[in-house]
Amino acid sequence: IYGPARQNSRGVNLNINSQYRPLMDEMATFMDREYHARPLLAFDVAEDAGARHDVLCPFDLRVRVGSVQWTSRDQAARAVDAAWAAFPRWDATPVAERAAIVSRLGDLMEENLAELMTMCSREGGKLLTDGVDEIREAVDFCRYYAVRAEELFGNTTRLPGPTGESNELMMGGKGVFAAISPWNFPIAIFCGQVVAAAVAGNPVLAKPAEQTSLAANRIIELLHDAGMPRDVVQLLPGDGPTVGSVLSGDPRITGVVFTGGTDTAQIINRALAARENAPLPTLIAETGGMNAMIVDSTALPEQVVADVIQSAFQSAGQRCSALRVLYVQDDVADRVIEILKGAMDELHVGDPRHLGTDVGPVIDEDARRGLMAHIDRLKGEGRLVAETRLDPTHTANGTFVAPVAFEIDGIEALEREQFGPVLHIVRYRASEIDRVIDSINGRGYGLTFGVHSRNQTFADEIAQKIRAGNVYINRNIIGAVVGVQPFGGQGLSGTGPKAGGPHYLLRFATEKTVTENT
Ligand code: NAD
Ligand code: ALA
Repeated sequence: IYGPARQNSRGVNLNINSQYRPLMDEMATFMDREYHARPLLAFDVAEDAGARHDVLCPFDLRVRVGSVQWTSRDQAARAVDAAWAAFPRWDATPVAERAAIVSRLGDLMEENLAELMTMCSREGGKLLTDGVDEIREAVDFCRYYAVRAEELFGNTTRLPGPTGESNELMMGGKGVFAAISPWNFPIAIFCGQVVAAAVAGNPVLAKPAEQTSLAANRIIELLHDAGMPRDVVQLLPGDGPTVGSVLSGDPRITGVVFTGGTDTAQIINRALAARENAPLPTLIAETGGMNAMIVDSTALPEQVVADVIQSAFQSAGQRCSALRVLYVQDDVADRVIEILKGAMDELHVGDPRHLGTDVGPVIDEDARRGLMAHIDRLKGEGRLVAETRLDPTHTANGTFVAPVAFEIDGIEALEREQFGPVLHIVRYRASEIDRVIDSINGRGYGLTFGVHSRNQTFADEIAQKIRAGNVYINRNIIGAVVGVQPFGGQGLSGTGPKAGGPHYLLRFATEKTVTENT
């Protein structure tokens, strides 16, 4: 599975093979294993009580990675009962105990790195480098939220008041949370949502994406091994319109933490609002983006292209943070595009287990079909700038889309987020910069944004005027690090608070002021 070794003319190994080889040797033991995911609830569920669905490997659809047993409506309703029964006990559990369980999950994920990496690759189609980053992020979430929970929930705050009166502010859990997650970070986002809600004192009903239930199942098994009570975190695999909407429509759900498409967030928002006799809900939604980068004529073209390749095509463009629209000042546009074409010619698309592969598959046939429809339309309009070659030897059996770049007139020309390796390029004149900023802001999304310029005043001004959650100057725009670059957008891109940031847990908490006449 290692792929061909790459050496330079002096025989120096250009692969990162040597660094990854021990891990890859360990991964080989999990490569042929079939996994089965099923509802992991506070009560036992019969093996055959629910429809089973096959999970196919995105880079080779002939391979069945395992199967998933979906949760029934009745099981979901009973899971909510069990979660409510667990709430007072869990909320009263000392935060140090809750944090210790969450930290232990981080340790267990590190111990099981090879197996989790194999799942990221076989179920999620991820490159090894992406898999390592993903699991590292999940571990970071566990450790960061554990520490933050102890800081926030560990002590009550005494507030000043008149003589003869004491005032204390204390924090607790809110109730029962549904955690609804996407397939593109099947471990990091799934785990981050669940541990944040749980460490803050809330029982959690976790509904993973249909495409990546196997990885989610393994994480919840590890969380239970770490000591998390089975009635506090339950796993409810299933589809969005059934299991997801049962949860968001249940009047007993206190809050939903959701990551996924903007359209889905709006459906969930409406379902929560339509509930009768339900408490006012909390909705934390992290959604899509139409992320742009502005490159002016002072930028270094080679650095721009390196960062554009990473931002647009790493993870096959299947990151909410990925670059979709590149604005290049006209004086340097031809030069940037020429280097970009050369770089795109060098990309290898194929089996994500090979270290020589740069771009793996997209998640499934539906995703491939949707992207191809967009690509074919822009090709039909004669807007193609560059396209990486697909080698059928490596791609014939999977859901691959070649990285591709088009010129378009402006971000307004895009109807929706294209969640894959498709880059759109717009030329602008220096005199049009205000209009460019208005167009990007006017699109309504606000997740990530980049600016490349050696003119510090220009870069600072643009960064200040753009409405986006994460702004990057002179670097790529993906891969936010927990505790370093708190992540999340605004407008159509999300409600906040920022994942991996100091305020994230507060949205899962309720504050109580106790005043006593002493
Ligand atoms: P999706 O919206 O299709 O699905 C996300 C989750 O919602 C899945 O678990 C799905 O089953 C569930 N769901 C679907 N319909 C539902 C319904 N009616 N009620 C309740 N739940 C329902 O998104 P996806 O295709 O899994 O993920 C890709 C999207 O996620 C992209 O738009 C991407 O930008 C976004 N994303 C955002 C972030 C972020 O942090 N902002 C991170 C990753 C992905
Ligand atoms: N947090 C992920 C990134 O920054 C989505 O790429």
